[in-house]
Amino acid sequence: MTPEHRTSARTNRITDLFGTDVPVVLGPFGGVSSVELTAAVSDGGGLGSYGLYGYGADAIRNTVAELRKATAKPFALNLWIPPGDETTVLPQAAFDRYLETLKPYFDELALPLPHMPDRFLPDYEEQVEATLAAGPAVVSFVFGVPAPELIEAAHRSGIVVVGTATTVAEAVALEAGGVDAVVASGMESGGHRVSFLKPAEESLIGTFALVPQVADAVRIPVIAAGGIADRRGYAAAMALGADAVQVGSAFLATRESAAVPAYRAVLHSPAARQTVLTSTLSGRLARGIPNRIIAELSEANVAKAGLSEAGIPERRIAPFPAQNWLTGRFRPEAAAQGNTDLMSLWAGQSAALIRHDSAADVLAELLAGTEIL
Ligand SMILES: Cc1cc2nc3c(=O)[nH]c(=O)nc-3n(C[C@H](O)[C@H](O)[C@H](O)COP(=O)(O)O)c2cc1C
Repeated sequence: MTPEHRTSARTNRITDLFGTDVPVVLGPFGGVSSVELTAAVSDGGGLGSYGLYGYGADAIRNTVAELRKATAKPFALNLWIPPGDETTVLPQAAFDRYLETLKPYFDELALPLPHMPDRFLPDYEEQVEATLAAGPAVVSFVFGVPAPELIEAAHRSGIVVVGTATTVAEAVALEAGGVDAVVASGMESGGHRVSFLKPAEESLIGTFALVPQVADAVRIPVIAAGGIADRRGYAAAMALGADAVQVGSAFLATRESAAVPAYRAVLHSPAARQTVLTSTLSGRLARGIPNRIIAELSEANVAKAGLSEAGIPERRIAPFPAQNWLTGRFRPEAAAQGNTDLMSLWAGQSAALIRHDSAADVLAELLAGTEIL
């Protein structure tokens, strides 16, 4: 294969759409994205993404200003669509009960117990307004189909809109809703299962089965995510009909990532060979490396659940977003202390394939897949 052929194999309709050199997307990491890693992937010719989960308008503006200082290349910003049925506030008694389950961890980390906040998440409309005003090349969404007015506003500003599907039906709904490209996220992926048409538990399709079916079902470009960490994964995804790959775990383990050293050490260790799907830490199903808190909370949710007055078993784990907020009061402190027992270790099934410590090396490794094709 000549170098010219290799170059042309790396540009396609998705690099045209995003304005990138290569069809590789850095997965956004809600709560763990870093300006440095996003800029490194964009500077390397891919599309760096930054996860804005939990960010208010000011934080979004500041982050984008930092991203602009760090790179002149295109990047993506990522938002979670509120599903509508989530609890924005809880009855005080329920809040207290859920907090009681978590009290041992606040005690262990010598943290005071939190009070109920006014809200568990920033206002979504404010997030959208700040994100579109910031003018990124791409805005990507999880947990639903972005509203038509939002997509129109993005398009008026020249912003490309990407949606995320965990099933073929979701990909079809996203295309019908007007997004420009779709991420097909197989259940191997690290982090939350972003299903929105059916419960996540009923939407667990592997990347190998999902990508070709989505490629057959939609005309818009398809970005394969989940389980891709090296040249073989890149080549396989492209052979299955993907136009690009989105990689999370392998980039999360690099030195440019915001994952604390203890987290990155686990990703590079044999412990990364096992991941589990759990809703104990956030109230929503997510994939990560098992640790003590997941084991104890799984146990607490089942074994210690009492009966309500109506005789219905009472949950010990709050629904999303309350549980994510509650555990989010101590997980950062656990991370700061390097305490891997009590932090979230979100990672995908390909975490054990991780070999590289820099974003440039991960990019080069993935792109070596063009030579296999
Ligand atoms: C720590 C962590 C946080 C994540 N947060 C988000 C997020 O906020 N939004 C999103 O679209 N995807 C999120 N993801 C999914 C990744 O962007 C990516 O699609 C996924 O990691 C790909 O699978 P892989 O880990 O097997 O490479 C997250 C993944 C991880 C590991």
